[in-house]
Amino acid sequence: MKGIVLAGGTGSRLWPVTKVVSKQLLPIYDKPMIYYPLSTLMLAGVQDILIITTPQDLDAFKVLLGDGSQLGISLSYVAQAKPEGLAQAFIIGEDFLNGDSCLMILGDNIFHGVGLGEELSKVLPENGAHIFTYEVADPSQYGILTLDQKGSPLSIEEKPTSSNSNLAITGLYFFDKDVAGIAKTVKPSKRGELEITAVINQYLQNGTLGVTQLSRGTAWLDTGNHNLMQDAAAYIRIIEERTGLKIACIEEVSYRNGWVSKVGLEALAKSHGPSSYGKYLQSLLSTKGE
Ligand code: G1P
Repeated sequence: MKGIVLAGGTGSRLWPVTKVVSKQLLPIYDKPMIYYPLSTLMLAGVQDILIITTPQDLDAFKVLLGDGSQLGISLSYVAQAKPEGLAQAFIIGEDFLNGDSCLMILGDNIFHGVGLGEELSKVLPENGAHIFTYEVADPSQYGILTLDQKGSPLSIEEKPTSSNSNLAITGLYFFDKDVAGIAKTVKPSKRGELEITAVINQYLQNGTLGVTQLSRGTAWLDTGNHNLMQDAAAYIRIIEERTGLKIACIEEVSYRNGWVSKVGLEALAKSHGPSSYGKYLQSLLSTKGE
């Protein structure tokens, strides 16, 4: 299975902060935002990952993350010329996917929960599509899933003005090999975008959509506006300070997954200089990897 991190978009809801810096490179407390979704894919065991971003931000992501070999993973990059919808990712990424299934995550989605990686690897199917829902107070901000009386998926709507359901479709999606073909049949929505919900709807119509409701113990954090970004940073800071453990430390995930050796981790620690992040990596050297 391959992975895609979609880190494009104009970030217009955060202007002027995102006028010259990609939203997904902004810090959420002690690391760039993209570390969070990237670590989620890595926790699910994905090692071959495509990062889709804007033409002007591509080089900055490359400087930050390189080809991934230092983390024991493979990172490729491709530009999305215009932000024409999330579903465009599968058309842009068709060559990369090369007929494989994929786990796609939005570059501004933060998931945190004990055992999340294991949970993900357990529920992901061989075929079809799989989505993860989360109860939210304000359904008008998200793609929303409605269930029938038996609890099976019934309908999907992008940002409904009113809805009886409060199950938001989070920005983490599994799709099988058919996804690029399906994305090509999607027509632009009223706001002119190829909506991800339209792709999910196709799988729903075909009867091959699976749903997992994330447990209340899992946090799904939004970074859609300035306040939410600060809230997410505060959440990360509180948990990290309390436990002394970092959330979404991609180097640690690689080390624990056995993808980098102790020697590799030492080099990564050194490359972070005297920062608290570097010191944290240094402290991991006395712990067991795999
Ligand atoms: C996008 C999707 C929406 C999903 C959300 C999750 O919305 O269109 O279906 O619920 O991400 O973060 P956006 O954040 O682009 O408005």
